[in-house]
Amino acid sequence: MLESGSGNRDGFTSKFGIICAAAGSAIGLGNIWRFPYVAGENGGGAFLLMYLGFVLVLGIPVMLTEFSIGRRAQRNAYGSFRKLAPGKPWYLVGLMGIVAAFVILAFYSTIAGWTLHYVYTSLINGFAGQSTEQLSRSFEAFQSSIGMPLFWQFVFIVLTAIIILSGIKKGIEKYSKILMPFLFLLLLILSVRSLTLPGAMEGLRFLFRPDFSKINADVMLSALGQAAFSLSIGMGALITYGSYIPKNNNLSQTAFEVSVADLLIAVLAGVAIFPAVFAFQMAPDEGVGLIFKVLPNIFQQMVGGYFFSLMFFILLAIAALTSSISIMEVVVAFLVEEFRMLRSVATAITAIAATVVGVFCTLSWSTFEGVSIFGQSIFGIMDFTASNVLLPLGALLIVLFAGWYLSRADLRDELTNGGLLKARLFGLFMFIIRFVAPVAIAIVFLQGIGFIR
Ligand code: PHE
Repeated sequence: MLESGSGNRDGFTSKFGIICAAAGSAIGLGNIWRFPYVAGENGGGAFLLMYLGFVLVLGIPVMLTEFSIGRRAQRNAYGSFRKLAPGKPWYLVGLMGIVAAFVILAFYSTIAGWTLHYVYTSLINGFAGQSTEQLSRSFEAFQSSIGMPLFWQFVFIVLTAIIILSGIKKGIEKYSKILMPFLFLLLLILSVRSLTLPGAMEGLRFLFRPDFSKINADVMLSALGQAAFSLSIGMGALITYGSYIPKNNNLSQTAFEVSVADLLIAVLAGVAIFPAVFAFQMAPDEGVGLIFKVLPNIFQQMVGGYFFSLMFFILLAIAALTSSISIMEVVVAFLVEEFRMLRSVATAITAIAATVVGVFCTLSWSTFEGVSIFGQSIFGIMDFTASNVLLPLGALLIVLFAGWYLSRADLRDELTNGGLLKARLFGLFMFIIRFVAPVAIAIVFLQGIGFIR
């Protein structure tokens, strides 16, 4: 096995850089594309409440656990389990994460490709003068075409690979540092415009007033899956990033800040989307196309809409990039460290494989429109499998590993930076990862897939 000490491993440099990189991973299409569409399909307020609960009670501890495992082991997702549990089958959790990374990269790049197409459409002022009806139809025409979606998906994967190739410090940190605050600002402006549209209040009610009769096992699993997806937990992305975090960083603080930022952005995206959905008399359960159909309507009602639309889709594409690099990095770090591959070779292999699988996702609405797996499209089944199966299962196994296999003393040592920091909530943390999280995730998961009632 490769022995690389922390000294010669590429890593994040400043505290702000760590937060930005981890937040860059968490904040992405999950918040702005996925959260509104899944919340819309699952009844709004009740879903939001469950999601909130999962992020705060389970998400933060799981994120912290991943950081600790990665920083302790100084390895990729698979290698970390190998190193901390030699000769034990825990490395399978790492392998599952590598598989999940592939699946997510494949369908994530489909949506990111759509985002790039919307950058281009904004640039040529292609939304101008279209009615709500027409905007929806143009989106659907694009979605069910072949050449353009594939082209943009390919562009996105190449962009991801280029950033991955420029290494950790120079690449990831530099790009995410400057741009995330801008995205936040733009969402804020969008929310204000959306909220001042006539009929906006109904959207707020939809998002914030829980209708408890809408909660069922499906909704709960969707909320859990959304929480995991949005926080980037359950597949080792944050184990991998944890391995790049310096020993003096306060991991608990980082996990807390990143999770709260992620939560805020998702809620803000909801506040931007749902008032507009109702103002333009659209359906909240539109599905994967929701934001692409709704947002251009808002931009048309804004002074400087051309500029805002262009800026927004550029920033969204960048947010998607800072997430996709964290997904690709899981696979690349694995190949580099475990197979001693050159970083360039590992990146090329990963990018090509992701493109091959990704094509099937992108063509779900055209060439493979007729394909139905468990009643879902290829895209749908990949999204479901990753978010609602692999990530919850991964998160479950990660907390079990840290809670029951790792020694309490080691974990404490990692969280307190060798005793330098106070560990005020350590008991609570241990209680959550040993009991609360495993039991809660297991119940929600087994009920959600219909295994128990
Ligand atoms: N959290 C990212 C987003 O919200 C997606 C992601 C999932 C990234 C899993 C890494 C791991 O867009």
